[in-house]
Amino acid sequence: MKPAIISLCLFLSLLHYSTAQSCVSETFSSNRLYSSCNSLPYLGASLHWNYHSSNGTVDVAYRAPESSSGWVAWAVNPTGSGMIGANAFLAFPGSNGAVTVYTTKFSSYTVEASDVKDENLSFPVYSKQAEYANGYYTIFATLELPNNSTKLNTAWQASTQLQNGVPNGHPAGDNLLSKNNLDFLSGESGSAGGNSRLRRKNIHGVLNAIGWGILMPIGAIMARYVKVFQAADPAWFYLHVACQCSAYIIGISGWGLGLKLGSESVGITYHKHRDIAIALFCLATVQVFALLLRPNKEHKYRIYWNVYHHSVGYCIIILSIVNIFEGFDILDPAKKWKHAYIGVIATLGGVALVLEAVTWPIVLRRWSRSSEKSHHGVNGASGSGVRQHQVV
Ligand SMILES: *[C@@H]1O[C@H](CO)[C@@H](O)[C@H](O)[C@H]1NC(C)=O
Ligand SMILES: *[C@@H]1O[C@H](CO)[C@@H](O)[C@H](O)[C@H]1NC(C)=O
Ligand SMILES: *[C@@H]1O[C@H](CO)[C@@H](O)[C@H](O)[C@H]1NC(C)=O
Ligand SMILES: *[C@@H]1O[C@H](CO)[C@@H](O)[C@H](O)[C@H]1NC(C)=O
Repeated sequence: MKPAIISLCLFLSLLHYSTAQSCVSETFSSNRLYSSCNSLPYLGASLHWNYHSSNGTVDVAYRAPESSSGWVAWAVNPTGSGMIGANAFLAFPGSNGAVTVYTTKFSSYTVEASDVKDENLSFPVYSKQAEYANGYYTIFATLELPNNSTKLNTAWQASTQLQNGVPNGHPAGDNLLSKNNLDFLSGESGSAGGNSRLRRKNIHGVLNAIGWGILMPIGAIMARYVKVFQAADPAWFYLHVACQCSAYIIGISGWGLGLKLGSESVGITYHKHRDIAIALFCLATVQVFALLLRPNKEHKYRIYWNVYHHSVGYCIIILSIVNIFEGFDILDPAKKWKHAYIGVIATLGGVALVLEAVTWPIVLRRWSRSSEKSHHGVNGASGSGVRQHQVV
């Protein structure tokens, strides 16, 4: 058994060694030589480079297999990771049949063909050139590493999808994983954006989905339906407060982490996500502190407080769910997470519907009994506040 494991390990390490080294044997036209190379983990691509520490420039050669009617790209992302913020070199068949290289900056996942133009990048580019041979595109470029940094997020791409003669779109799968953080000095590469940043983004997502997206609706369901059962009075109130307070604490931690992540990513702002988040923070904080201003049950203003509390509450729940889906689009995690959240929300919605059907007859019966007793209502407010009537 043991020798089998040892030889398996040996085989795997040899395999690793050989794949890690396979870029070494690649050669380039015009006798271009590069001192470093990385076999990139996706799309069969490789990157070769010479780093000049005297002036912070690097000569790169990016090679990737693709059909000659497709396109390839290599990008540095000085402000983020992946496609948003990428400063890309795109090689594709030009209108004259020769391989063309564009330098293009991407600021969104949705790209119109008219957005794909040859423009200045956010760092100087001294040369760019590309060629196609034997099933491979190769892009040659000399650029100044932004901010004289040697560790940068890079991304690479290869696809057959063109529109109006320019690269447009790529498949999912490996094409979404093709990014890393590359140290041009040591040749070491790690996952793009730093694992810790991605981990913090995921923590931000999980905290907010639980706090705003799950606990808050559950707290609202408790308040609306459990209080109908007289036996649960006043237990529902404490359950509601406990649920919403935990939701608020968890949600605010996630919110704060989101602000921190936002302040760290210079140049990229997800305006909609951020604005909704700030509105949510204000509404939820008002909601928590309004508890302290809650008039007594018999007070004549209590009905107004209830109307305010319910409308702000529902508003928070709707905005939270909208913003969680915004977050899914930004973070773009595996589909199963989005599906899981949709499942949870649909279940809560279903539970609410069933409880709605169960509790209305009880509320109506109680209401008609009480209005019989009081000869069709004692005060004007009771009619409009059917369901608010039994608030503690
Ligand atoms: C860039 O960084 C290298 C190494 O860190 C340093 O030797 C060089 O002087 C820097 N160049 C500029 C232009 O700042
Ligand atoms: C940067 O330095 C290298 C090597 O020292 C040199 O070959 C290259 O021309 C320089 N590039 C620029 C833009 O000055
Ligand atoms: C691009 O950069 C070059 C060189 O720095 C400059 O001359 C040119 O005006 C820039 N083009 C645009 C559109 O900014
Ligand atoms: C450049 O480097 C300095 C010092 O490391 C840092 O404070 C600054 O944010 C960097 N700028 C960019 C655009 O990355």
